[in-house]
Amino acid sequence: MTKKPIRVAVTGAAGNIGYSLIFPVAAGTMLGADQPVILQLVELPPAMKGLEGVALELDDCAYPLLAGIELADNAQDGFKNADVVMLVGAKPRGPGQTRADLIRDNGPIFTGQGDAIEAGAADDVKVVVVGNPCNTNALIAASRAKRVPRSSFTAMTRLDQNRAVGQIAKKLGVTPGEVKDAFIWGNHSDTMVPDVSLAHIGGMKASEQLAAEWLAGDFDKTVRTRGKAIIDARGKSSAASAAFAAIDHVHDWYLGTGSNKLTSMAIPSDGSYGIPEGLIYSFPVKITAPWKYEIVQGVSVDAATQARMDGSTKELLSEREAVKDLL
Ligand code: NAD
Ligand code: LMR
Repeated sequence: MTKKPIRVAVTGAAGNIGYSLIFPVAAGTMLGADQPVILQLVELPPAMKGLEGVALELDDCAYPLLAGIELADNAQDGFKNADVVMLVGAKPRGPGQTRADLIRDNGPIFTGQGDAIEAGAADDVKVVVVGNPCNTNALIAASRAKRVPRSSFTAMTRLDQNRAVGQIAKKLGVTPGEVKDAFIWGNHSDTMVPDVSLAHIGGMKASEQLAAEWLAGDFDKTVRTRGKAIIDARGKSSAASAAFAAIDHVHDWYLGTGSNKLTSMAIPSDGSYGIPEGLIYSFPVKITAPWKYEIVQGVSVDAATQARMDGSTKELLSEREAVKDLL
């Protein structure tokens, strides 16, 4: 029997990331090869013509699972009855900027979008924020949508996890699929903490296969600063890798992590690991049922890692302070 379509709303659908994101979503990569989807694509009014062009291309792909395409130039229309909302549309940083520099430009976008989720999305809507600074933007949106459980609001650090896995695979000369259970703590910023304490490759711990100096040095820095390296090289921020990480994020939240025991998601803290309750912080999570996650408990955190995790907390608290009028 054909399943009921899942309604997926995407903002910034005609942008850099949007153009890489919506085609695989329509193809079934995100929600499953037997799961019909309806795309609800949202753009700013000046970008609607471009979005209409994207919709023509979606038609031309004749995706077997694509049960509908709806275009909207505002979030209130675009989020109606949405089951999944992917908040991508926001300004990207340019050379010389940090992601936090975007906060006063992008933060206000997420008040209106939180209101629109509150007004019209499905009761059990699931939200992932990609637009930067994504942790704090998720906090803003969540604070406006009181009807929706806080735990339904997440931000994306899966790109950082994928970057960590990619670096380890390259170093060891294995495929990324062989690297399991690396994850990210904290903010999607330079203060993030890549953690390989639970990671393993071919049944052996990562720490037994990788030099401690490399892990603490090049590996850590490469993962934390990869976004800047891409902007410096491309003149634009990451797009295809960001789109695929967003797909991985939602895929695993719904369908599970497969042969990995965990994944990284920035979620409202419940106080675990001393992170202040409510802050949107990246944790290792396990998926216990479709759309249900739990923070992995019992990770052994040494003093140096804890100090860095606290640094990320401090940064998120100062971002929260900077947008307190929007919460
Ligand atoms: P882009 O400028 O190419 O596209 C953004 C699109 O969003 C544009 O088409 C714009 O018209 C649209 N938009 C802006 N405000 C909107 C609104 N209020 N409603 C609907 N649409 C809106 O940018 P991009 O490269 O696609 O990046 C988008 C965001 O994602 C940026 O903030 C970027 O920093 C962030 N990003 C996050 C990660 C992550 O890992 N979390 C990774 C890459 C990029
Ligand atoms: C990334 O990590 O690639 C994105 O957050 C874009 C950026 O500004 O670095």
